[in-house]
Amino acid sequence: MKKEVRKVVIAGNWKMNMTPSAAVEAVKETAKLTDGKTGCEVVLCVPFVDIAPAADAAKGTNVKIGAQNVHFEKKGAFTGEISADMLLEAGAEYVIVGHRERRQYFGETDETVNKRARAALAAGLKVILCLGEVLEQRQAGITDEIVSMQTKLDLSGITAEEMKNVIIAYEPVWAIGTGLTATPEQADEVCGVIRKVIAGLYGGDVAESTVIQYGGSMNDGNADDLLAKVNVDGGLIGGASLVPEKFARIVDAAQK
Ligand code: 13P
Repeated sequence: MKKEVRKVVIAGNWKMNMTPSAAVEAVKETAKLTDGKTGCEVVLCVPFVDIAPAADAAKGTNVKIGAQNVHFEKKGAFTGEISADMLLEAGAEYVIVGHRERRQYFGETDETVNKRARAALAAGLKVILCLGEVLEQRQAGITDEIVSMQTKLDLSGITAEEMKNVIIAYEPVWAIGTGLTATPEQADEVCGVIRKVIAGLYGGDVAESTVIQYGGSMNDGNADDLLAKVNVDGGLIGGASLVPEKFARIVDAAQK
């Protein structure tokens, strides 16, 4: 495995937190604390209404702005939804698709996740595609099968060329917001399984260059050990990304 060919990406997922004015302050603080830390890409995925002011505050800094979801149609009668073109014009470079909370509370399926990812890529956004097993699946010993199936279904129809703009975030559901973190060995093993599936779909070169993050209670205390693993190319961070000092320490861990 050649980790050095991949750029580490540390992304925050603010979820439904931060009003626009709070977002501007947090972006500025994060930018200040991560200034010059060019050893990884730094991304903050913010609520829709925060994107434009956050992107404005991030101009000329190390911080890139992302969204947390996108609709698959270009426009039309889809009340409450946001298109990829809208995100781009507001200043987003990245978008999360398939987050567990979308799958669990908003009825997202592998089919709709795939459609959203394809629409985002076609419009020119970079996609952070989330997948992972629930606790019962891990206990039943079928984690590898579950993440393999999700990887195949969620990437269906996405080309090798488009894979340059796809990041996979492995987020074991039992570790999200629970304080329970996968061990570095568990994270490395499953990220490795996902990489093998990508090799099967697209070949070894694409697999070696695809960024695969770990997410689930990653924080400034455990990031060093997780990021040291050969298959873990970064993190998707919820709670700790809301506190610029904590998030910046994770960015520091990614510089090594
Ligand atoms: P926590 O870091 O709060 O566990 O959230 C992880 C996550 O869901 C990131 O997308």
